[in-house]
Amino acid sequence: VAPLKVGIAGLGTVGAEVVRLIETQARVLAGRSGRGIRVVAVTARSKAKKRGIDLRGVEWAKDPMALATHPEVDCFVELMGGAGDPALSAVDAALGAGKSVVTANKALLAKHGLKLAKAAEKHGGALNFEAAVGAAIPVIKTLREGLAGTGINRVYGILNGTCNYILTRMEQEGLSFAECLKDAQRLGYAEANPSFDVDGHDTAQKLAILASLAFGTKVAQSAVYVEGISSIAPEDLRAAADLGYRVKLLGVAVRTAKGIEQRVHPTMVPKSSSIAQVMGVTNAVTIDGEGIPPITLVGPGAGGAATASAVVADIADVARGIRANPFGRPISQLRDTKKAPMERH
Ligand code: NDP
Ligand code: HSE
Repeated sequence: VAPLKVGIAGLGTVGAEVVRLIETQARVLAGRSGRGIRVVAVTARSKAKKRGIDLRGVEWAKDPMALATHPEVDCFVELMGGAGDPALSAVDAALGAGKSVVTANKALLAKHGLKLAKAAEKHGGALNFEAAVGAAIPVIKTLREGLAGTGINRVYGILNGTCNYILTRMEQEGLSFAECLKDAQRLGYAEANPSFDVDGHDTAQKLAILASLAFGTKVAQSAVYVEGISSIAPEDLRAAADLGYRVKLLGVAVRTAKGIEQRVHPTMVPKSSSIAQVMGVTNAVTIDGEGIPPITLVGPGAGGAATASAVVADIADVARGIRANPFGRPISQLRDTKKAPMERH
């Protein structure tokens, strides 16, 4: 069987790790996919930058659009980030050409997910985005495939590694917000614009994707109420600790009689609760399904290796010929998101 030919746009924290993983895990991947996976072309902003990866024999495409429409590329992997161009037009063009797309770009999916899913449906390519929520945690597959037969009432959790890392270090080491954020950036956890993390928008984008999968609604970031953590200081965390609480940035999507309520805000959780034990860059997602006890998935929520793990699994699915409806159902069956009025729980 011919190998799957992959083109990767973006060779930063995640993209470089994806190139490395495809090389080091080549035999395992070929075994699992029934065919080889070969990176044939890549692109990024700077061709000259040293990235510590072996790109011998790999073509450098002149820009993301050239890569997305490259006749040799079967699977376009978008790891540049951003809800607009070049990511949007490149992904749209790849899907329009009938190629499969793998992306970790929650900003793009939360804003244009429906349009892109329509393009995938129309032209027959896959649109896979396991890495967009919870990095290495297989939460997309869990909601879309694992719980396909279960009604979901609520999905909630810690969805941003940078914020949880900052809150953990501020509480445990008394460090300032700015020092912790700088470390999160150095470790490759933060977004290129870290205000997306600390102002709660990254969590909102992820929550909008999870809510669509959980409730069969059209992904709608605008339906999410958002508050971030940027005004929280170590003293606030100490005050919460004195009362027996920890502060966590939670994303909560819940089905109510009035519609789907989606909210992101710092929340005081009792120190004895399981969500309070989730520390550092770790994420946790709890799914309340009808007729079954809650399911909680916990794991590394950011960083190059953790994210690449999910990206490569998505590429392996493309190699195997697995093609799911991106948001779990045909587009025609996704309902409009009826926004419920916010209630404090
Ligand atoms: P980085 O900023 O580390 O890397 C971005 C890459 O994209 C760089 O290689 C950059 O090129 C390239 N790039 C940016 N703009 C352009 C452009 N206009 N044309 C061509 N190439 C461009 O980001 P990350 O690797 O951290 O994140 C990538 C994606 O993965 C984002 O969507 C992010 O939200 C998502 N993600 C990241 C996670 C993480 O932990 N880091 C976790 C989960 C998802 P150059 O190197 O030359 O500057
Ligand atoms: N900036 C994101 C985070 C990356 O910290 O969670 C993972 O999506």
